[in-house]
Amino acid sequence: MNNLDQLLKDAAAAFAAATDINALEQVKAKFLGKSGSVTELLKGLAKLDPEARKEAGALINRCKKGVEDFLEARREALRTAQLEAQLAAEALDVTLPGRGMGTGGLHPVVRTQERFETLFRSIGFEVAEGPEIEEDWFNFTALNTPDNHPARSMHDTFYIEGAKDVLLRTHTSPVQIRAMKAHVARYANAESMPELRIIAPGRVYRVDSDATHSPMFHQVEGLWVGEDISFAGLKGVIVDFLQRFFETDEMQVRFRPSFFPFTEPSAEIDFAFMSGPNKGRWLEIAGCGMVHPNVLKHGGIDAQRYTGFAFGMGLDRLTMLRYGVNDLRLFFENDQRFLAQFQD
Ligand code: FA5
Ligand code: MG
Repeated sequence: MNNLDQLLKDAAAAFAAATDINALEQVKAKFLGKSGSVTELLKGLAKLDPEARKEAGALINRCKKGVEDFLEARREALRTAQLEAQLAAEALDVTLPGRGMGTGGLHPVVRTQERFETLFRSIGFEVAEGPEIEEDWFNFTALNTPDNHPARSMHDTFYIEGAKDVLLRTHTSPVQIRAMKAHVARYANAESMPELRIIAPGRVYRVDSDATHSPMFHQVEGLWVGEDISFAGLKGVIVDFLQRFFETDEMQVRFRPSFFPFTEPSAEIDFAFMSGPNKGRWLEIAGCGMVHPNVLKHGGIDAQRYTGFAFGMGLDRLTMLRYGVNDLRLFFENDQRFLAQFQD
């Protein structure tokens, strides 16, 4: 039956031409629908006599089965193609690096503080602390700066409203007094007092604001009290620290004579790199000197027997130099684009 073979070929071609499932279902009607060509052939069987009907029926049914098989195969192919297209459209490249959770990191000034502590611990210093809301006596009077002393005006102080003699500490130097008192109390019954060697990092406050001054900033106090402590020792400790901190010897350190009520003699420490991008730019990083005998006395220490040196270094200034930042205020704006540069 040639016409059946032709019909099968036509069906296969029509199904193949359908490019999606909907089109395919439309085409299906042409062959298997109520008046589709296969259905019409089956209807025609009624006119045949029983013998011929049996034979033709078997052929037509085989043809119908063939059409159905082509249809199902095409359906399956279209479904697979559709699924593949969808998968391709929604594809994820699982080999791309992840966006990550953003682990955060330490603020550059905190990194400087930790580095400072590590380096000073390695030469036998302990880390001490004092309150940021401080008594006037510790911040000024005990540091040889009594009421009405003109040096009080060197610091523009934030006072606490309604609280008498309470202020935001203007420097970390009051921790000198607290540390001396604690040390003396600890060794009150001992035969001799061991050396006192502390650093005291922390926040300090002044009414001050420009590219190198911020109203809240960080200092580290250093204090070494013992029997033979000298200015030469102070210079040695500071220069050695700076070389280790900046990991270079290519620097100039200047001890510029200055005045503090709590040290005599006194100096300010200026620093400049001799190479690199910040070469030749001087920045004051600390005040220092030999502890004034009146300060030792206020700390309860025998000023005849003991001497000491002290320094107060600006942590934010050290951080500026270390990372080549030229405006200190950037450290306190909390702009993540700025801060993220310091994470490694
Ligand atoms: C003092 O505060 C003294 N207490 C330092 C000292 C300690 C002298 C012990 C002697 C013995 P001065 O005001 O210079 O000194 O401040 C010390 C350092 O803090 C400065 O060299 C600077 O590095 C830093 N500093 C001062 N003011 C600011 C500010 N507003 N912002 C950022 N850093 C500052
Ligand atoms: Mg100064």
